[in-house]
Amino acid sequence: MSVDQDKLMEFLGRFIGDLGATIAAGSVVVGHRLGLYKALDAGPATPAELAERTDCDPRYITEWLRGQAAGGYVMCEVDSDTYWLSEEQAFALTNPDGGVYAPGAFVLALGALRAESRIAQAFRTGDGLGWHEHDGDVILGCEQFFRPGYVANLVSSWIPALDGVETKLRAGATVADVGCGLGASSILIANEYPAARVVGSDYHDGSIELARKRAADAGVTERTSFEVASAATFSGLGYDLVTTFDCLHDMGDPHGAATHIRQALAPDGTWMIVEPFAGDTVADNLNPVGRAYYNFSTFLCVPNALSQNGGYSLGAQAGEAAIRRLVTDAGFTRFRRVTETPFNLVYEARP
Ligand SMILES: C[S@@+](CC[C@H](N)C(=O)[O-])C[C@H]1O[C@@H](n2cnc3c(N)ncnc32)[C@H](O)[C@@H]1O
Repeated sequence: MSVDQDKLMEFLGRFIGDLGATIAAGSVVVGHRLGLYKALDAGPATPAELAERTDCDPRYITEWLRGQAAGGYVMCEVDSDTYWLSEEQAFALTNPDGGVYAPGAFVLALGALRAESRIAQAFRTGDGLGWHEHDGDVILGCEQFFRPGYVANLVSSWIPALDGVETKLRAGATVADVGCGLGASSILIANEYPAARVVGSDYHDGSIELARKRAADAGVTERTSFEVASAATFSGLGYDLVTTFDCLHDMGDPHGAATHIRQALAPDGTWMIVEPFAGDTVADNLNPVGRAYYNFSTFLCVPNALSQNGGYSLGAQAGEAAIRRLVTDAGFTRFRRVTETPFNLVYEARP
């Protein structure tokens, strides 16, 4: 066997980049927890100045800033030992309510990795690992990862892309937000459409407890309610809109969920399905977005589905054809992809 030196060096370059990114994930989360990015966004700083601003130890801040600069997460002028954030870095690193909040994704990733030994064991046994069995950072990081995309797109483009739904929401529609997690989507809908009523549900009681708190903090308790229920058992009938945000593929029985959703919808109701961006074939997904989702799926989505009854484990890269099959098998007669972002596909299904 002969090793091609050029190919070896190319692979080693990829590996060292990944190694740096893996350990740097911890530094990003430290920056998030201690407010280091926000403090740096106040203006250029030497390590001593940033340490002063953040009440941190200067030696730690020095090492952190150098690591951030080496990874392209902060700008740096080596001669004056000064660091700052570019507009683009600040956009992605400092605002949890903006269109992208990269640190939230790393909170989720590190939270998921805490289950690594249990997941390795599950590879042998085929057992599942439920969403509720993960480290709490999975729950919080999931909200931080997905919410910015919903803030940027849900009201401005996803809902308007659905057939007639925006008008119904403004007039006072009833909405079931299934698998709602901490209720980010439920609260955005309740905020934007004050006449609408939103019932969020999730099988995980800890998530529902936090969703109620989030709704109270957002001042929308009168327009929202939350219940602990699986997608196949949530309560209520005659909904104008049922939504599933980044959760259908996580379920062990998405067919049971789809069937229940069809029964819970009004005859002219709409099921809005938001799923991770994915192509239909494995080859379509061998790219950076697919890499992130396949690996999140290995730790979160597939184990959760395998922990539930139903016999499915679609994974986060199910693709449009698989979702269409599922939806039509459950008796929906109309299905279409309405819009997409680099991270999400949005579908509409009608009874
Ligand atoms: C990736 S998270 C998405 C949460 C939320 N929709 C969001 O976008 O932030 C997946 C959610 O699906 C929930 N879930 C998993 N299986 C479920 C089931 N069978 N029924 C209801 N919820 C489920 C999990 O508890 C988790 O909150």
